[in-house]
Amino acid sequence: MAGGRRSGVALLLDGPPGAPAPHCPHGPAFLFAKIRQGKEEGRRFYACSACRERKDCGFFQWEDEKVSEARLLAQEKYNRSQQPFFSHAQNVERYKEFVILPLSERKFCQECQQLLLPPEWSRHSGHQVLSKVSSAQLRRPSQLLSPLENKKTNAQYLFADRSCQFLLDLIVAHGFTRALCVGTPRLHELIKLQASQEQENPIRSLLLDIDFRYSQFCTEEEFCHYNMFNHYFFGGEAAHDVCQKFLQQHKNKRIVMVADPPFGGLVEALAFTFKQLVAMWKQTGCADAASKELPIFWIFPYFFESRILEFFPSFRMLDYQVDYDNHALYKHGKTGRKQSPVCIFTNLSPHKAWVKTGSFIDQQYLRLKQELNNGKGITSGTGRDKGSSGPTP
Ligand SMILES: C[S@@+](CC[C@H](N)C(=O)[O-])C[C@H]1O[C@@H](n2cnc3c(N)ncnc32)[C@H](O)[C@@H]1O
Ligand SMILES: [Zn+2]
Ligand SMILES: [Zn+2]
Repeated sequence: MAGGRRSGVALLLDGPPGAPAPHCPHGPAFLFAKIRQGKEEGRRFYACSACRERKDCGFFQWEDEKVSEARLLAQEKYNRSQQPFFSHAQNVERYKEFVILPLSERKFCQECQQLLLPPEWSRHSGHQVLSKVSSAQLRRPSQLLSPLENKKTNAQYLFADRSCQFLLDLIVAHGFTRALCVGTPRLHELIKLQASQEQENPIRSLLLDIDFRYSQFCTEEEFCHYNMFNHYFFGGEAAHDVCQKFLQQHKNKRIVMVADPPFGGLVEALAFTFKQLVAMWKQTGCADAASKELPIFWIFPYFFESRILEFFPSFRMLDYQVDYDNHALYKHGKTGRKQSPVCIFTNLSPHKAWVKTGSFIDQQYLRLKQELNNGKGITSGTGRDKGSSGPTP
């Protein structure tokens, strides 16, 4: 499916049956076709699903290419060599050792982006090392790690406090007890922070992200190394099971998914992945899941509205403007073309919970407030609503 493109390169999500895609270090590669004047032309080829620049991952293979056994083995060897030095389980053990060190011995190498244990100090002697890493810093890894800002691959733009708190307020106001955080490390850590302060029914969060550095600060139940373009769990079946278990819905556990993908990401690939996560949630065997939609907040620029609605017709775009700490343009309070174009798309219906989140000053919010004041209660499907009303928890 060339997605109606006139010319350019099209992603073919349903590749040839029975021919599994070759793997690069980021999991199964994508199959692409060249399109000219609406027609496919030339040879199809495989390339990396996660990196849009060859310098980040140079994988390339023609679809019809005969690959020798030796080259296959070399590719597998290369893929293994690109995996992180420490496994997630090792990082968890290292963290346990780290937190019991006296403050004066807690060091973090800013060059290697790694927590250091005392026997490792000498190997990092020429590096920029941060000392006296406090427990508060360990609880906010998104502030300790330098954001991977490479636009074409990670695009790690971190929520400003205002937007992160707003998302948490929405989650709390709706009574969700679990959040599947897809590419939202800062929201994940805020939820964990809040949970550590709350005695009753703390919200649990699972972070799915390609940034493996987070495995230094999260247990294997809190973080999965994941590629959101091809729904690939780097930790294999065990990591897939962690996610599946997390999605297991019981009576009192209500789940929401919050995703903030790199904006250069292909919408069709992201939609395909999100549908697979929804399918995992539906498979949990809960009768509710089979008949309902998984509540989702998908954070993305407003100009992708029609593309997103193509895949998720029940989504609406909220008027809320999401802003980021480390993006010069995407800041709150700017006007005209300098405003953040980033919005929240959701399948949740307008809900009185939105009124409680005071920072949500938009048309729907104002209408809801007015309706509440008039004693009319809440109606759904107001304002810019384009599709059917989604799930109301
Ligand atoms: C726009 S940032 C969103 C961060 C979010 N605003 C926050 O503050 O928590 C994109 C996030 O997606 C992650 N990411 C980038 N490419 C990815 C991929 N292929 N699979 C999974 N995560 C990816 C980045 O590491 C980053 O955390
Ligand atoms: Zn790759
Ligand atoms: Zn170092």
